[in-house]
Amino acid sequence: MEQVAVVTGANRGIGLEISARLADLGFTVVFTSRDEAKGLQAMNGLIKSGRKFVFFKLDVTSKTDGRKLSEFLEKEYGKVDVLFNNAAILPDENESAVTVDLSMVSKTFETNTVGAFMVAQSVIPLMKKNNYGRIINISSGLGALNTMGGGYPAYRISKASLNAITRMLADELSPFNIIVNSVDPGWVKTDMGGPNASKTTAQAVDSILWLAQLPDNGPSGKFFRNKQEAPW
Ligand SMILES: NC(=O)c1ccc[n+]([C@@H]2O[C@H](COP(=O)([O-])OP(=O)(O)OC[C@H]3O[C@@H](n4cnc5c(N)ncnc54)[C@H](OP(=O)(O)O)[C@@H]3O)[C@@H](O)[C@H]2O)c1
Repeated sequence: MEQVAVVTGANRGIGLEISARLADLGFTVVFTSRDEAKGLQAMNGLIKSGRKFVFFKLDVTSKTDGRKLSEFLEKEYGKVDVLFNNAAILPDENESAVTVDLSMVSKTFETNTVGAFMVAQSVIPLMKKNNYGRIINISSGLGALNTMGGGYPAYRISKASLNAITRMLADELSPFNIIVNSVDPGWVKTDMGGPNASKTTAQAVDSILWLAQLPDNGPSGKFFRNKQEAPW
């Protein structure tokens, strides 16, 4: 039976690469973007024989979009197997925790943390119904408490909290064969990572994609980097 995967922020960067690679693995990819025109253009650029994509407009800060996504998945497929919570912003590259405008902190939290939480809550009922789900929260080394330092205050908080969501959901969803993990893709050449980053999107996705295909007894509630468990 076809497997269905949802990718948030699919229109560029790591999300675009994840979408292409999932399609190559045979997934039907629900390719989401907050901007329909940009999203459709990006998705059309990936279309080739054998790949299955369906576009869905999703702003992760919109509960209405989340509700519509869940209705769409129920109606079209009656299930969703995989969610990649990938969409995020990093507006505070040059900010300090001492002076950062707290409205920037709230906005980042709304997108990177509450947004991912909202999308997860939108798909979980359907995953529970089918007793199967794999949720991958794209986190960051900047969110790891064990190496937490100054700088990037809004982004760091948003990703540390996303990791907390991973732990909570993994625990609550373990009876339903729903596996939830966080992953650090490394420093990646995208609009966010910049041109000097050490990894290409293809290299980053090599270290992420396996989490979509974990077996039923696979690890859950963990943080991964380069396919190895990493400290929180
Ligand atoms: N690049 C790195 O070095 C790096 C390192 C560690 C972790 N990460 C994480 O990896 C993930 C992907 O990053 P990236 O480097 O690919 O970033 P990117 O190139 O900046 O892409 C971010 C994506 O998120 C989307 N997005 C932002 N706000 C959204 C919203 N409210 N609703 C829906 N989509 C939204 C963007 O859409 P628009 O085009 O509409 O803005 C874009 O598609 C993020 O979670 C990021 O934190 C990246």
